[in-house]
Amino acid sequence: MPVHFSNAPGKIILFGEHAVVYGYPAIAIPVAQLKAAARVIPSLELPTGTIQISAPQINLLAPLSSVPGNHPIAAAVRIALDTVQAVHPPVFTLQVTSTIPISAGMGSSAAVTIAIIRAITSYFGHLLSSEEISNLAFEVEKIQHGTPSGIDNNVIAHQKPVYYQAGNPLEFLHIEQPTHWVIADTGIKASTRETVADVRKLYQVDQKTISEVFTAIGKISTNARQHLINGDLTQLGDLLNENQQLLERLTVSSQELDALVKIARAAGAAGAKLSGGGRGGNIIALASPGKIEQIQAALHEGGARQVFSTILNKGRD
Ligand code: PMV
Repeated sequence: MPVHFSNAPGKIILFGEHAVVYGYPAIAIPVAQLKAAARVIPSLELPTGTIQISAPQINLLAPLSSVPGNHPIAAAVRIALDTVQAVHPPVFTLQVTSTIPISAGMGSSAAVTIAIIRAITSYFGHLLSSEEISNLAFEVEKIQHGTPSGIDNNVIAHQKPVYYQAGNPLEFLHIEQPTHWVIADTGIKASTRETVADVRKLYQVDQKTISEVFTAIGKISTNARQHLINGDLTQLGDLLNENQQLLERLTVSSQELDALVKIARAAGAAGAKLSGGGRGGNIIALASPGKIEQIQAALHEGGARQVFSTILNKGRD
């Protein structure tokens, strides 16, 4: 049997993280430069019934049977096998690689999960829709993150910019005017599970105030939706900056994130904020095309570990 290969992009959240966990809207876009990949390689050398997992970046080389069930890779493999109802799975090696930084707010876990589910289900001849893949990945995300909002699995499975609100139909954004985004990594790893849990503690202590913060963040996502379609830098820049202030009130920013946000703004970004769970990971900055290089250079100089830019292009459908 031939090798089955699948990949999935990274993502950044432009607006609405954390509030999205409580049912408010958020906007996220795929980042095609970053990829997780999964290969199903049939191998006759392995003992009957063995699925060997090889994920060199996390030093994992072991048979599936010895990987704990709550390990994200094992969980993704098992849900894929359950979906295809593989009672006697053929012998194969699953090779997992990724260029998406781990614990950096760029959707690494959802992308790895989606690449695995796609590769295994297609190996068994099951062609699932993006929505089906997204729903399966959501189940795996729950094992890893506790209470994920569902935005990561949706933006990554569909590979399109999304306006997402739990309980509402998913909206794809049909971009009319491209925008350029600079992404800079603090190099600090932070657990989304922990930041989400800390925000929940804040919420439990003072529901009124924190609900107001969530409501304000939700309004920002709603306002940003059309400005993003139109590519309105001034409006989007202001909304990014407001969103950052609100995330600071949720205590999910950090000195390092604040510093990079300031540097990006001083270097000419229309606006900047942290992206994802926070306390580490990345900032995003909105840049006019003529300023991308100077913003990237300033962020490098200011200590960012990795800096690159991505374009949110016109929709093709
Ligand atoms: O850090 P990431 O890429 O997993 O993004 C987390 C976004 C949150 O809104 C904080 C959590 C969620 O499930 O949406």
